Amino acid sequence: MKHLLKLSDLSTEEIFGILNLADQLKYERKNNIRHHHLEGKKLGMIFQKSSTRTRVSFEVGMYELGGYALFLSDRDLQIGRGEPIKDTVRVLSRYLDGIMIRTFAQQDVEDLAAYGSIPIINGLTDYCHPCQVLADLMTIREYKGSLKGLKLCFVGDGNNMANSLIVGGLKTGMEVSIACPDHYRPDADILARGFATGRLTVTSDIKAAAKDADVLYTDVWASMGQEAEKAEREKVFRGYCIDADLMSVAKPDAMVLHCLPAHRGEEITDEVFEAHANDIFDEAENRLHAQKAVLVKLLK
Ligand code: CP
Ligand code: NVA
Repeated sequence: MKHLLKLSDLSTEEIFGILNLADQLKYERKNNIRHHHLEGKKLGMIFQKSSTRTRVSFEVGMYELGGYALFLSDRDLQIGRGEPIKDTVRVLSRYLDGIMIRTFAQQDVEDLAAYGSIPIINGLTDYCHPCQVLADLMTIREYKGSLKGLKLCFVGDGNNMANSLIVGGLKTGMEVSIACPDHYRPDADILARGFATGRLTVTSDIKAAAKDADVLYTDVWASMGQEAEKAEREKVFRGYCIDADLMSVAKPDAMVLHCLPAHRGEEITDEVFEAHANDIFDEAENRLHAQKAVLVKLLK
């Protein structure tokens, strides 16, 4: 494993290798066991979109591993003034040991890896969010003991989260169901590979998708970069909501996850969110542990 560009680049063994190391690092942190695996290493963090969790968990993660993280906003970098990303990365490769980037086009992340000479980590694109799903898989395994055979249901936009949940869920042996409006399905390449496993279903019927689910997952109706579509999306997605009624068709012990930030009253009710706040905030915490594992695998 040289980079983390998207989960489909990883084998099942590599995914479980990250989850196992993440569990170990979480245990060590809880017990104050020092783990300076990245002493003196420097990570550049390029943000072309907002972030709370990704930014803070990567920065704190590098600190806890003995390394250093630089926050690089595109408002300050020359990228924001048109310097090609393929030039930027060839310069940054001379200073840094790795780059985490949050941006729009997946191609930019792929280009960083192609032109640079250091590990590249995808901190969210319009296409996928691999770091989030590694934390999600870690959380589901913590709560349920194992992943194989569980039913993971995603309700909402067939966006970056749905794409990565399909890939991550299927690669770790889960059954994945997606409930989304017809014109908002996950990307075609993800669906084609997913359907080939026989363990993926996509429907606009949210109750059918959620039936007997072990995990219910949702995300915002309008993602970063889709602000202009907000009003239209509010109409299209009305009803794509995890509420008490939907919970009643899932397994009685179903977990609820949300990558956050959440819009209560849209994709999830306040009641369901608060009833599952432990699941959701454990998930957010696990971003730190899962990403530290990725950093150790790539930068050590
Ligand atoms: N879930 C997630 O990536 O959160 P941020 O946008 O706050 O980083
Ligand atoms: N789909 C959301 C996820 C945020 C973590 C977005 O792209 O804005």
